[in-house]
Amino acid sequence: MQSHLILDWKREKIKSMVSNKNKHTAVPFYETEKIPSKESFFTYVSSYFTKRSISAFVVILILATAFVLVACIGGNFQSKVCSDHKSVQFIAAPQNKLHYQKNLKIAHSKRRLPHCIIIGVRKGGTRALLQFLKIHPDVQVAPDEIHFFDNNENYSKGIDWYRRRMPQSFEEQLTIEKSPNYFVDWNTPFRVKMMNSSIKLLLIVKDPVYRAVSDYAQIKDVRESKDLEMEDFEDLAINMDTGRVRINYKAINRSLYYIHTKRWLKQFPLEQIHIVDGDNLVYHPKKELEKVETFLGLRHYIQEGHFTFDRDKRFFCINKPNGAHKCLNRTKGRPHPKIDPDVVKQLNDFFEPYNKKFFQLVGRTFKWPISGRRSII
Ligand code: A3P
Repeated sequence: MQSHLILDWKREKIKSMVSNKNKHTAVPFYETEKIPSKESFFTYVSSYFTKRSISAFVVILILATAFVLVACIGGNFQSKVCSDHKSVQFIAAPQNKLHYQKNLKIAHSKRRLPHCIIIGVRKGGTRALLQFLKIHPDVQVAPDEIHFFDNNENYSKGIDWYRRRMPQSFEEQLTIEKSPNYFVDWNTPFRVKMMNSSIKLLLIVKDPVYRAVSDYAQIKDVRESKDLEMEDFEDLAINMDTGRVRINYKAINRSLYYIHTKRWLKQFPLEQIHIVDGDNLVYHPKKELEKVETFLGLRHYIQEGHFTFDRDKRFFCINKPNGAHKCLNRTKGRPHPKIDPDVVKQLNDFFEPYNKKFFQLVGRTFKWPISGRRSII
């Protein structure tokens, strides 16, 4: 009986050993390396995808940055996107306008006589005013000074010759021309009135002494580029024998705003002439342009964000769609020679009574002589 039990026990033991052996050998060692357990499989898969997602994210980020950079540099992107990182709101001048091209034929557009003329004054900031107005979508400007009314030869070519020099425009757009010499020319006010008695006129003025020096600097620059000598401003502006101001020296004469404006007012009522403060346009273009928009019956469109103050140029420049800005060329904002402070004082005294009469004539005052950063002394 006892031997029978032991035999049974041995039999069970062997069975359990066999089954245990089977358990350990059911999955051979070399196979467990290839097919992981359930838990390690999931860890493996998730770490595989985490690595892939991080790499994919990094690649997408690099591609997006590259796209924005290329778009900004290439100029195909709206300026706002390019400049959102800047603290000031950047607005680019619109690109949807007709661009002036000779003989360009565009449906529904044609060349029209100007609705408005910038009549002067030379060196008052006429180019800046014209270029800044060009930002407005409802404005088309003639890029060149046409000198139709002040040049007899041009005037004799007739009004169609003049019209052909105007930019293409749509019916709802205003056409603007500028020829700064019109302000001082004797024939021009009457001739302009003959063309259109209800035309709007813009006159931009500056501190008369500052303007005279700017006028002198321009002529000096041109002469020096031709290797020609130029007298000092002081000698041209003051007759050293008599000690009197030379009223017929052109740079001085053009600054006698009272005399020239009076001639214009013989042909046009004051309401048709808007005077732009050229000293203010330098620092606050938007403010001056807002007044011009009102005068011309334009919607208020031009914003501070359309301009960037260029530190090297020391003037405001116009923002471009590619995030850059475009300044006026080097003939605008050129350095001025140092002028003898006694001569500057003498000129300020000389202009004072003319300025007062001018203020009375146009019903407003200007802060002349200017002081601060751009004063002459
Ligand atoms: P300077 O070059 O003597 O500084 P105009 O276009 O009538 O000839 O006027 C030129 C003057 O415009 C310049 O004279 C300058 O003072 C003035 N001006 C005003 N705004 C300007 C701007 N944003 N950039 C350059 N010049 C500007």
